Amino acid sequence: MAVLTIPTQAFPDQRPGTSGLRKKVSVFQQPHYLENFVQSIFAAIPDRKGKTLVLGGDGRFFNREAIQIILRMAAANGWGKVMVGRGGLLSTPAVSAIIRAHHAHGGIILSASHNPAGPHHDFGIKYNISNGGPAPEKITDAIWAGSKSIQSYQTLDTADVDIDHDGVFQLDDMTVEICDPVRDYAELMARIFDFETLRRLFNGNFRMRFDAMHAITGPYALEILENQLGAPAGTVVNGIPLTDFGGGHPDPNLVYAKSLADYLFGEEAPDFGAASDGDGDRNMILGRQFFVTPSDSLAALAANATHIPGYHGGLKGVARSMPTSQAVDVVAQKLGIPHYETPTGWKFFGNLLDAGKITFCGEESFGTGSDHVREKDGLWAVLAWLSVIAATGKSVAEIVTRHWQEFGRHYYTRHDYEGIPASAGEEIMATLTAQLPVLTGQTLAGRIVQTTDDFAYTDPIDGSISSHQGLRLLFSDGARLVFRLSGTGTEGATLRIYHEHLEQDAARQHLDPQRVLRELIALGKDLTRIEKLTGRKAPTVIT
Ligand code: G6P
Ligand code: ZN
Repeated sequence: MAVLTIPTQAFPDQRPGTSGLRKKVSVFQQPHYLENFVQSIFAAIPDRKGKTLVLGGDGRFFNREAIQIILRMAAANGWGKVMVGRGGLLSTPAVSAIIRAHHAHGGIILSASHNPAGPHHDFGIKYNISNGGPAPEKITDAIWAGSKSIQSYQTLDTADVDIDHDGVFQLDDMTVEICDPVRDYAELMARIFDFETLRRLFNGNFRMRFDAMHAITGPYALEILENQLGAPAGTVVNGIPLTDFGGGHPDPNLVYAKSLADYLFGEEAPDFGAASDGDGDRNMILGRQFFVTPSDSLAALAANATHIPGYHGGLKGVARSMPTSQAVDVVAQKLGIPHYETPTGWKFFGNLLDAGKITFCGEESFGTGSDHVREKDGLWAVLAWLSVIAATGKSVAEIVTRHWQEFGRHYYTRHDYEGIPASAGEEIMATLTAQLPVLTGQTLAGRIVQTTDDFAYTDPIDGSISSHQGLRLLFSDGARLVFRLSGTGTEGATLRIYHEHLEQDAARQHLDPQRVLRELIALGKDLTRIEKLTGRKAPTVIT
């Protein structure tokens, strides 16, 4: 079959963000837009010839069309084989697991994560490398550079292929394998966790609800929780992936997973609740009338890791992103293991995981994971919590409050101002950066500012430097105030302000975080002049 070389013109806006390229569906539907980006990915992987690529997405609108386009282009660009999840579906952690299990060269994930889906919402595409993790900046920069100078792309002139039935066939010289999206992932979970113990948990009175938010984790949660672990039918709700995610916003937090939160805080609450996001890598953990912050979740799992069969030998080290609370650092110090602080973005954990420096890592943005794959993993976090609950016989609330008694409670809240004008976002950060040096030594929010900085990270493995990763005020009592602009939005800018304060006194560990942190919150609003610059009196999302 003849390879077609289609002339095209570069688009100026194809710079990958924190997690690949995310744009409105209408942007991706422009002629050549997706093709240009896919060709730029392939051009950045010059050693792809004859190798295997994994391909799937979270099922959102435009997923199926994009799969067909990418398959034709992959065949025309010399890939040896593409493994596609049946129906074009694969969660982000499943892509990572399949890349690793099948020694694939890389993977393409079609998702805009937790952003809403549908013809008027978002689509996204990201590339993962052979370790199963997000492409490092070296590659994303090459993709961006390629997208700015592209003049043509390669494809085939073929009809759409059947992606809805398992099987193996040829597309020109390339093999296409349509595979079960869940199987490899479920097998990996069964190796890490003791499914027999978890089955016993569900055989007793233990009850949970998992909200798949009409997105990709539905098939995974149904198979693992209900079919394999015997949780009662109905444990998984909103379990069928819909192209518009049911009109919802599949971001597992108290705002967007409100119905789950209401249920867990209501009269009929089960023992445990969890939700995952559009592409299955995020998680939110709830107990009966109890919300676990992602930072606390990471810390509690690290402290209890030896209860989980896959980690019974202990952890090599842990890592958290900079804005994530320092709770896990305290655990690491007590365990005598190293802890690392990386910029926001899961890709920064990749080198530490590959080098065997860390076993667990996590982020305040509802991401938790381990060295089993190279992505954060929502269902893994759920199974990890279930394992700790089964081993200790304690409720989520007991596990966390005892944790606070032992390690102190890091009160934490993040305030997001979404969709502010990009210029206002830049002005806020520029003004604050200029102000930082004079803040050192001042008493603000009732505390002394010990240091301030514009966070930069030197990767301990490859020495690469990432600058401008967030502005920090570090106080002498250990409190922190952090500012950064989101790297994942598609409209305007989103300012995130992170507030943290450590409370050692067990008698003061059960207060409302918004109250405990009110002085830091007021300081954050003052320093950014958010209301004056944007007219916003309050954040759009509080987590
Ligand atoms: C994605 C990335 C995470 C990151 C999160 C928030 O989910 O995979 O690693 O923490 O986005 O990023 P943002 O730049 O929006 O704060
Ligand atoms: Zn996600």
